[in-house]
Amino acid sequence: MARKMKAVQVRQAKGPLEIVEREVPEPGPGQVRLAVEACGVCHSDAITKEGWMPLQYPRVPGHEVVGRIDRVGPGVTAWKEGQHVGVGWHGGHCGQCTACREGDFVTCEVQQVCGISYDGGYAEYMVAPQEALARVPEGMSSVDAAPLLCAGVTTFNSLRHMDVRPGDLVAVQGIGGLGHLAIQYARKLGYRTAAISRGADKRQLALELGAHEYIDTEQGPVAQALQKLGGARVIMMTASSSSLAGELVGGLGRNGTLLLLGAGAEPIPVSSMQLIMKRQRIQGWPSGVPQDSQDTMAFSALAGVRSRNEVFPLERASEAYERMMGNHARFRVVLKLR
Ligand SMILES: NC(=O)c1ccc[n+]([C@@H]2O[C@H](COP(=O)([O-])OP(=O)(O)OC[C@H]3O[C@@H](n4cnc5c(N)ncnc54)[C@H](OP(=O)(O)O)[C@@H]3O)[C@@H](O)[C@H]2O)c1
Ligand SMILES: [Zn+2]
Repeated sequence: MARKMKAVQVRQAKGPLEIVEREVPEPGPGQVRLAVEACGVCHSDAITKEGWMPLQYPRVPGHEVVGRIDRVGPGVTAWKEGQHVGVGWHGGHCGQCTACREGDFVTCEVQQVCGISYDGGYAEYMVAPQEALARVPEGMSSVDAAPLLCAGVTTFNSLRHMDVRPGDLVAVQGIGGLGHLAIQYARKLGYRTAAISRGADKRQLALELGAHEYIDTEQGPVAQALQKLGGARVIMMTASSSSLAGELVGGLGRNGTLLLLGAGAEPIPVSSMQLIMKRQRIQGWPSGVPQDSQDTMAFSALAGVRSRNEVFPLERASEAYERMMGNHARFRVVLKLR
């Protein structure tokens, strides 16, 4: 008789997160199975929950997955049972398309996304393609590692590719899962770090995380506040608000970049004259490949960057998700399975 496991699935778009019993999946050729130990709850899980991308239901969300390899499928030679690994948003690539041929796997034309293209980490076991795995550094717990697989790699990997030097002003808008890690990375990488949030609630926490400056958007125009500090070289935007993106452009200095990490549904209103005259740009960034996740975990261990987590059992996934969506989490909710 097939072994059973507990999983949390979405039966159809906009349906609830429901706990179900499923068969433990078997890894096919080139795949491995993880005994999941922890899975972070990312705002992008709303894509699976709400059906914002075409996907097949029922689907198990979760793309900040950490566990032990429990079985390898046929043809897998690079990985073995017992290894401590993670899977992030980038859940596999084809190796054949133009992007892959250029080595740019994260922009693969048929990229697989964990928890969207196939069942993710809100489950006791999960199967993933071998090329999606990242090694967790020795001594790092699964709960600590999980948020680094998406929130961590997205902020660290994007920031390390920006044209910015030590001492420059880096602003982080939105202090949630991504933002609270971004503040720590910006500080540890040597930048003058400004945190931008709505209201005064998170001021103390932002300063504890390493911010030099705190900007409360309810106290006046954010662009003016950033210009008072000299204008930002990089603004990492983590909210899903296009109108706010337009406002933030006004806070950039010369050669500044507005780095879009959260996606808004509406077009962004910007003055092209300003972009031209100050040689500014607006840039998006899609997380990273497993090597980027490994670099993120290694840097986090080295520099003492740690996700602040609220830990929930799998059975309470729905409550955990609502806590994140309601902006109550301080700052990442992580499901602990083992
Ligand atoms: N590019 C990528 O590869 C990538 C990867 C992961 C996630 N994402 C996206 O990045 C975004 C953040 O994810 P997350 O997991 O960090 O979410 P989160 O924990 O919910 O944090 C988002 C933060 O944005 C701020 N915010 C929310 N609504 C806002 C609004 N209307 N106006 C201004 N600020 C607002 C809040 O911060 P304050 O309370 O401080 O204002 C909130 O804490 C999501 O859109 C997610 O889908 C993108
Ligand atoms: Zn994510």
